[in-house]
Amino acid sequence: MKANELKFSDIDRLIVDNVDQHEFWVHRDLYRDPAVFELEMKYIFERNWVFVGLESQAPNPNDYFTTWVGRQPIIVARDKHGKLGAFINSCAHKGARIAHHRDGNAKQWVCSYHGWAYDTAGACIYIKDQDAGCYAEPFNKLDHGLKKVKFDAYRGFLFASLSDDVPSLDEHLGDAKKMLDLVWDQGPDGIEAIPGVSSYTYNANWKMQVENCIDAYHLTSCHPSFMNIVSRRKAGESRNTQVKSIDFNVMDVVKGGTACFPRGHAVIYATNPLENERGMFVHRDEAVARCGETKTKWMLATRNLTIYPNVQFAENASLQMRVIRPLSVDKTEMTIYCIGAKGESDAAREIRIRQYEDFFNTSGLATPDDTIAYEDCQFGFQARNLEWLQGTARGITGYHTGPDELSQEIGIRPDSGFMGAMGAWDETVYYGGYRAWKQFIKDGLEADGLL
Ligand code: FES
Ligand SMILES: [Fe+2]
Repeated sequence: MKANELKFSDIDRLIVDNVDQHEFWVHRDLYRDPAVFELEMKYIFERNWVFVGLESQAPNPNDYFTTWVGRQPIIVARDKHGKLGAFINSCAHKGARIAHHRDGNAKQWVCSYHGWAYDTAGACIYIKDQDAGCYAEPFNKLDHGLKKVKFDAYRGFLFASLSDDVPSLDEHLGDAKKMLDLVWDQGPDGIEAIPGVSSYTYNANWKMQVENCIDAYHLTSCHPSFMNIVSRRKAGESRNTQVKSIDFNVMDVVKGGTACFPRGHAVIYATNPLENERGMFVHRDEAVARCGETKTKWMLATRNLTIYPNVQFAENASLQMRVIRPLSVDKTEMTIYCIGAKGESDAAREIRIRQYEDFFNTSGLATPDDTIAYEDCQFGFQARNLEWLQGTARGITGYHTGPDELSQEIGIRPDSGFMGAMGAWDETVYYGGYRAWKQFIKDGLEADGLL
C-alpha cells in the first residue's frame, strides 16, 4: 500500500493495546511496510523533536557539526557570538550542500557550486556577481539565508524540530529529563562526547535498535561470548586484568525496573553491585557532595535510556550515546559515541574508554551480536503470511501504571512501569513507545486533514 493510501484504521490495527485483558500485540508490518516507514518519517521524525547532538560537539564560536532530522540534512552551528542554532544544509540558490564535513570551525560557508556565502547564523552574506545579475524585485525580496529549524536544548542535550507545531522541549521530555540528569550530572560541568565517533549501518528497521536498548531479555542468550569472557576474567583465566566490565550473571539477583514516559521515552534500570568498577566511581566522593547519595547511586547504576525517537544513553558496561538515523524501512545508520564527564581524571577516562571498547564499540563484544540479531529479525519479517509478534508479553502481570518504589527513589513519575528482579526481563517497557508511535501518526494525519 502507498503511504497516501494508508488510513488511520490501517495503522490502528497494527497494535493491539488491551492490557486489562493481558493483551498487547505488535504486527510485523510495523517493521517491513515501506508505507508505514513513510508515515514514520513524516509524523515521528519530521513533526517532532529529534535529538541532534551534544553542546560539546560545538563548544566554541563558529564551531559546527552536521547531522540529520528525519530525511533532512542539518547543520548545527554556534554563531560568532556563541549562540547555537540549526539550519537545513542546503544552499538557497540551487540546493547544494553547504557544509561537507562531520564537524569543523568556519566563519562562513561558501557554496562550492556558484559561490554564495553564509555566516554561522545562517544569513546569506554574499551572492557572487550580484550587481551584474539583472535580478528583479521578486528575487531581491527573498530571504536568501539558510532555512532555520526550530531548536532548543535541555542542559547540553540539543534538539531540533522541523515543525513549529510541537510542544515545548521541556514538555516533550517530561520526567525523562531526570534520567538525562543522571547522565549529565556525572561531572560538575556535565558530559562530553569523547573524540572517536564511529558510524555503521545495519540492514533492518530502525525500531529494532529502539527496542534493543531496553531489551534486557536478550542479554544472556545474544551475548554469550561476552559473558564467557567476563567469567574467565573473574576466574583469573584471562591475562586481561585491566578491563572490568558488567557481569550479566549477577543481573537476575539485583533490583531493577522499567519505566515508560509520555511521548515514547523509556528506560530500564538496575542497581549495580559492581559500581566500584565504573569510571565515575573514581570521583564518587565529589558526586556525593554535589548530588547526594541516592542520585549518585543511580548515576552509578545500570540504566539504558531511549529518548524517543532517535537517541539512547546506555550506561552498563560504560556510557554510550547512540544516534539512530532511519534510511529506509530495512536499513538504519547508527552513530555511536563514548561519553565521559568533562574534566574527569585520566584514570576515570581510561576506565570508561577501555570498557567502551570492550562491549560497545563497533568492534566490541556486544554490537555485532545485536546487529546480526536485528538483521535476522528483518530476514524473518519476509514471511508475509506471519502477522503478529509474541515479543511484548513478558511482564504483563507485573505491569502497573504510575510510579513504584524504585522510580520514586530515582525521583521520576512515569506513565507505567515494572519493578522486580531483572530476571523477569520485562517487555511491557515497549508499550510507551508503541502508544506514542500510534499517537504521533494519528496527530500528524489529523493535522494534515487525512483522518
Ligand atoms: S547551489 Fe549554492 S551557489 Fe549555486
Ligand atoms: Fe545487546
